[in-house]
Amino acid sequence: YLIGVDLGTTGTKTVLFDETGKIFGSVTFEYPLYQEHNGWAEQEPEDWWNAAKNSIKAVLDQSKVNPAEIKGLGISGQMHGLVMLDKDGNVLRRSIIWCDQRTAKECEQITEAVGAKRLIEITANPALTGFTASKILWVRNNEPAIYEQCAHILLPKDFIRYRLTGEFATEVSDASGMQLLDVPNRCWSEEVLQKLHIDRSLLGKVYESPEITGVLTNKAAGETGLKPGTPVVGGAGDNAAAAVGTGVVRDGLAFTTIGSSGVVFAHSSSITIDPKGRVHTFCCAVPGAWHVMGVHQAAGLSLKWLRDNVCIPEMAEAEKLGVDPYVVMGAEAEKVALGSERLIYLPYLNGERTPHLDPNCRGVFFGLSGMHRRPHLIRAVMEGVSYSLRDSIRILREMNVEISEMMACGGGGKSPLWRQMLADNYHCRVKTVDTQEGPALGVAILAGVGAGLFHSVPEACEALIHSDVVQDPIAENSNYYDRAYPLYQKLYADLKNSFDQLTTL
Ligand code: XUL
Repeated sequence: YLIGVDLGTTGTKTVLFDETGKIFGSVTFEYPLYQEHNGWAEQEPEDWWNAAKNSIKAVLDQSKVNPAEIKGLGISGQMHGLVMLDKDGNVLRRSIIWCDQRTAKECEQITEAVGAKRLIEITANPALTGFTASKILWVRNNEPAIYEQCAHILLPKDFIRYRLTGEFATEVSDASGMQLLDVPNRCWSEEVLQKLHIDRSLLGKVYESPEITGVLTNKAAGETGLKPGTPVVGGAGDNAAAAVGTGVVRDGLAFTTIGSSGVVFAHSSSITIDPKGRVHTFCCAVPGAWHVMGVHQAAGLSLKWLRDNVCIPEMAEAEKLGVDPYVVMGAEAEKVALGSERLIYLPYLNGERTPHLDPNCRGVFFGLSGMHRRPHLIRAVMEGVSYSLRDSIRILREMNVEISEMMACGGGGKSPLWRQMLADNYHCRVKTVDTQEGPALGVAILAGVGAGLFHSVPEACEALIHSDVVQDPIAENSNYYDRAYPLYQKLYADLKNSFDQLTTL
């Protein structure tokens, strides 16, 4: 048996699998997100640990599996969050997490200290508020007394590793999102650390994702019910873990997640960096390989916004039928012709990362006419989100990253209509996988590789992950979207200055 722990933003989910990927238990514990000022987002590391240890314990109870038969454990996690510990391993402050936006000033400081071009050469990305380095500088600038006491800096999932094994360690995929890693060479960058005056000794040892980083201590065994000595592998950042869990582990393979945010992730056996920083390049969980990833702030979130604020009758109908409201909304959208009768939606409810790196842009319905009804709005939102994901595909193809097959995941990936829109816009085959447990399965597979049950990550994925539904592009639809997409792109360009002006009102 193998265990995957996935430390998400809303909760931590632990899943116990056997060596064929069959699930024997799955338990989630939730915790709060603290947003005390506009743009701030923090969580309590102690809440993560409680959720992790209690979910491991509960999964063992649920499955009745003998802990001695568990060959390994992997951890996946929300990326970029900053955990600071003192010399005795005590948590010094709440973690500033990935979606926190307070560090614009620190990003300027980083760009100035390292140089914009050099920063992209080494860390493969421009300075972004989401990434960890700017959060470290923020604490140093604003809470010097806490920074003084800091002896260890960890990412969220690596804090769980510390509590399980007593080791201060990380692995390449998550470390890539700290902006302190030399991403091409997969090691800490002495140059960046020096230029930012961050002491190397604050950071843990960097491993490849399937490597064993330590074993369960007696204390952690007592708290979780696992056996002392159980190996804990590197694991991966949530997206790199999802890639393993959906079998996206070789060139040509990619996945699109439509969750709250949208992610387009492509595997790449050689490193490619977008000089304009519109997509992230990180190390992936397959040793020696990378991934390139576009992130869109409001993909599923756009449809959720419509559901909660506009689609009240659809929600009532869904409740009556006992089905998911998104299924009713999808059926409504299906009745509307391609193009939503010339209604175009820009999904920038929370600004946008890829391709604009623009916190000021906002959502737009363009072309609204008296004849449009709710179903047109639903379809336009799904089409607008598909165009935004297509922006990532366009950039990845510009960078010569090969995409021949796309897996669709997340809540939005369950909609056949949305998957068809992706296939039509991407001009490539879109598939689903037969598992909903992407990240947890991904790190359980890494644990299996670390424990020697499989020779390599690709070999394990080949054996364990199977695709389900296949959808091919429909030429007539692609033809329409090819004509509409340039107009979608032009709308942002036309509105850019107006978005900036809007913030000054
Ligand atoms: C990736 C990113 C998110 C977080 C939270 O860059 O910010 O995917 O990992 O899930």
